[in-house]
Amino acid sequence: MKKSILNFKQMKSKGEKITWITAYSYPMAMAAEKAGIEMILVGDSGGMVELGYDTTNPVTMDEMIQLAKAARRGAPNTFIVGDMPQGSYEVSTEEAIRNAMRFVKEAGCDAIKLEGGVRVGDKVKAIVNAGIVVIGHLGLTPQSVASFGGYRVQGKTLESFEETVVDAVSLEKNGASLLLLEAMPSLSAEQISKRLKIPVLGIGAGELVDGQLIIMHDLTGFYPNFRPWFAKCYIPQVIDKYKDTLYPFKDNLKKFGIQLREDGLLSIVQLAIKEYIDEVKTINFPSEDYNYPIKIEELLSIKESKYWI
Ligand code: KIV
Repeated sequence: MKKSILNFKQMKSKGEKITWITAYSYPMAMAAEKAGIEMILVGDSGGMVELGYDTTNPVTMDEMIQLAKAARRGAPNTFIVGDMPQGSYEVSTEEAIRNAMRFVKEAGCDAIKLEGGVRVGDKVKAIVNAGIVVIGHLGLTPQSVASFGGYRVQGKTLESFEETVVDAVSLEKNGASLLLLEAMPSLSAEQISKRLKIPVLGIGAGELVDGQLIIMHDLTGFYPNFRPWFAKCYIPQVIDKYKDTLYPFKDNLKKFGIQLREDGLLSIVQLAIKEYIDEVKTINFPSEDYNYPIKIEELLSIKESKYWI
C-alpha cells in the first residue's frame, strides 16, 4: 500500500527508518516498487545519470515531467517526489506553484522537493498553500554549487551548522513535510532531526537521521562518470550473496527465465534495492565507512552552539 506523509511522520515517532531511492524510468521505478521501497525521488540528478548532462543545472521542467511520468507508470503504488529543477521556482511564487502543480497533475507525483531554506521560504509557503506536499533539501545542494564555490560539506563549522539549523526550522515553519540533508557529518544531521517534528532523511548524512536516500545509479553502479564515496554500490554484495540461488531455474532458462522475465539485470537490481532497504531498516547502512568525518575541534566548536540539544 502506498505510504503517505502521515505514515512517514508516524515512522519517525516510532524510530522506524524510512527508505528512499531515486528512479527516472519505468523499469527502474518498477524494480524499486517490487523491492518494497517507500519513497521514490525523480531527482534532477536524472539530468546527469539518464540524460547525460555534465551537471544537474541544464535539465528542464519539461524533461523532468517526462522522467516523472515514466517513474509513476513503473511505480503506481509508491510515494513519488518530483524534484524542482533549477529555474523552476526561483523567479516568483506564481511560477513555483505552476511548476509544482505540473508534477502533481501531469506526472501524478505525491510531493515536490526544492533546494534552500530561508531564501525560498515564500515559495515553500505558497506551494504548501496550493495544497502540494513540499520536501526541503539542505546541506550540499547541487543547484547552488557555484555559490558555495564548489561541492562543500555543510554543518562542519559553527557558522554552517547554525545556518543549517535556522534554514531547517524555517522550512518546517513554512509547512515543509519532510527534509533531506545532503553531505553532512552525522552528529550535525542528528541535531537537526532531533529539533524538527517532521522526518529528516539523509544522503551522506549518517545513520542518526530518520531515513536514507540513495541514487539508483550509485546503488547499481550504472553511472560511469562519478560516484560520491558516501554512496554504496550493492551489486558486488548481491552477486556474492545470491550467486548460487539467483536463478533457481538456470538449468531451464529458456522455459522459466523467459516466461517470468526474471533472467536478467532487473532481477539483480531488485535484489540490490532489497539489500539497501534491509540495511537501512536494520541501521547497517550507512556504516562508519560511508560517514563524513568531523575533526574533534570542529565538533567541540559546534557543540558550543546555542542550537546544540
Ligand atoms: O537530484 C537528486 O537526486 C537529488 C539528490 C542528489 C539529493 O536531489
